[in-house]
Amino acid sequence: MCGIVGSVSTKTNIIPILLNGLKTLEYRGYDSAGISYLKDGNLTINKVKGRVQDLENNIEKNSFSNIGIAHTRWATHGKVSETNAHPHNVGHITIVHNGIIENFNKLKHKLEEKGYQFKTQADTEIAAGLLDYYYKKYENIDKAIQKFMKKVDGSYAICMLIDNDPNTIYVIKKDSPLIIGQSQDVNYIASDVPAILKYTKNYYILEDYEYGKVTNNNIEIYNKEGNLLKKELKEYHGSDLTSDKGLYEHYMLKEIMEQNTTIRKTINPYINNIKDLLKMPDLTKYERIDIIACGTAMHAGLIAKYLFEQYTNTKCEVFLASEYRYQNNFLNNKVLSIFISQSGETADTLAALKKVKEENCDSLGIVNVKESSIARAIDKVLYTEAGTEIAVASTKAYTAQVALLSVLVLAHAYRTKSIKEEKILNILEEFRSITSILNPILEDTKTYENIAKEIYEKNDVFYIGRGLDYALAMEGSLKLKEISYIHSEAYAAGELKHGTISLITKDTPVFSSATNKHINTKTISNLKEVISRGAKCYLITDEDIKDDNIKVIKIKKVSMFLKPLLTIIPYQLIAYYTAKLKGCDIDKPRNLAKSVTVE
Ligand code: AGP
Repeated sequence: MCGIVGSVSTKTNIIPILLNGLKTLEYRGYDSAGISYLKDGNLTINKVKGRVQDLENNIEKNSFSNIGIAHTRWATHGKVSETNAHPHNVGHITIVHNGIIENFNKLKHKLEEKGYQFKTQADTEIAAGLLDYYYKKYENIDKAIQKFMKKVDGSYAICMLIDNDPNTIYVIKKDSPLIIGQSQDVNYIASDVPAILKYTKNYYILEDYEYGKVTNNNIEIYNKEGNLLKKELKEYHGSDLTSDKGLYEHYMLKEIMEQNTTIRKTINPYINNIKDLLKMPDLTKYERIDIIACGTAMHAGLIAKYLFEQYTNTKCEVFLASEYRYQNNFLNNKVLSIFISQSGETADTLAALKKVKEENCDSLGIVNVKESSIARAIDKVLYTEAGTEIAVASTKAYTAQVALLSVLVLAHAYRTKSIKEEKILNILEEFRSITSILNPILEDTKTYENIAKEIYEKNDVFYIGRGLDYALAMEGSLKLKEISYIHSEAYAAGELKHGTISLITKDTPVFSSATNKHINTKTISNLKEVISRGAKCYLITDEDIKDDNIKVIKIKKVSMFLKPLLTIIPYQLIAYYTAKLKGCDIDKPRNLAKSVTVE
């Protein structure tokens, strides 16, 4: 998703700082990039439809500036093009922007009536026009910004240059994250911390309806009434965000293989004994647990739902954040809302969290990126220790989420006496052996490569399952389609025959998992239904199932608290090897972003 970087210095050339910042944010996904800087009162704008490296190649060698802004764009309004790329300049004003100006059409017409003409399809250009209009009208940037915040609906993190104000970068924030980094003689602006970590760990966080003025030696932050605020200077303590592929061809494969250690690292503090397990938050005062997330993180929530309801008799609902924020959520002080997010920057999840906080209800975060926006805003956060996840398709973060949530449920089961202590101790022992339990599955790559050869030329692939296996089918299906671009659907095993089975033809691949002995026979029956219509079936199971028409992938028998962690690995690797055979851009799939910071 979009990335913002700005910098202003006394005498340091900030152009390399801006480009390096954009490169650090590349993992978020984007389709174009741009930079703007001031030199002796002249404004330079350089934009490309393509990568940051293309932008760098476009900049004249030895270019120098001490003040500038830069951006990577993931298109929302207006097609992917150089024209629509940021920065956008209107009159005195040049800006880069993360977010969506929802009333941009109305604003555009009003500005056109006042003589403005716009060249692009981007809502950001309208924002620049509105700021320019108010700046000219009031001849006062504070008033212009305050008026802008009153008039604009939507979300924005804006970084702004003014051609006749060459020493200051202005920033404006609502909903989309923005931070200001501070160091000796150079100050920075970024959409999140990784972009400036190379230069400083000290930063200010902008809250909604705050705006700032950043020069080489001064940082001022104001509220929407124009009052100067006393903000706390934070220091970043997260892990080093750099990462490399090592011997792997793709980050995704590296991250899949790392799961035998990242899961263990995530749950280590809680699994040595009951005393450690009870470091997990006490949920006994709650009557309902709501889980809110997007994409893969939501699929992790479905695993937790199953475990909460099956093993602690606690009602648990899972919501897509993008839906949650527009519905009635029946919140009260007996409800705990758990937000799951790898990046901690997902706009829909952040917006849903804001809604819970507005109702003064309790929230708990399961987040991977330290001190990210969700981690900062939530009441309490439990960090997954998956390390930096670079591949857009989430794997190690997902299993770290599932593992942490499973241990959270186990602690709740202990406190509510839903599971006997002896059984809990056995499950903790299994968790302590997770690395050796996962290794055989991770090492069996030949099996998954062979399956990939059988499906990579198919147009449609189906995943089915019941209970936990249905949640796993959803994640397996998402993995395949997001990196191989093969259409795929996940279905409750019993639901396929209510319509979608009409799509099953000869050799249609159907994947399933059967890890619950109480309902496995039903799933096998559903597989036989599709086999009789020509499907080619693959089954991940810990049962001794033999069938000439089903390719069985056997996994070790473990407690239900660990089964998802084993079952998902074949799905991840089958998706990886399929995408590899298709020659896809596995780590950066088309149209996708690692952190979806727009709604
Ligand atoms: C998963 O492979 C995708 N990258 C996507 O669904 C992702 O899980 C979703 O956008 C949520 O992101 P978050 O965990 O950073 O909030």
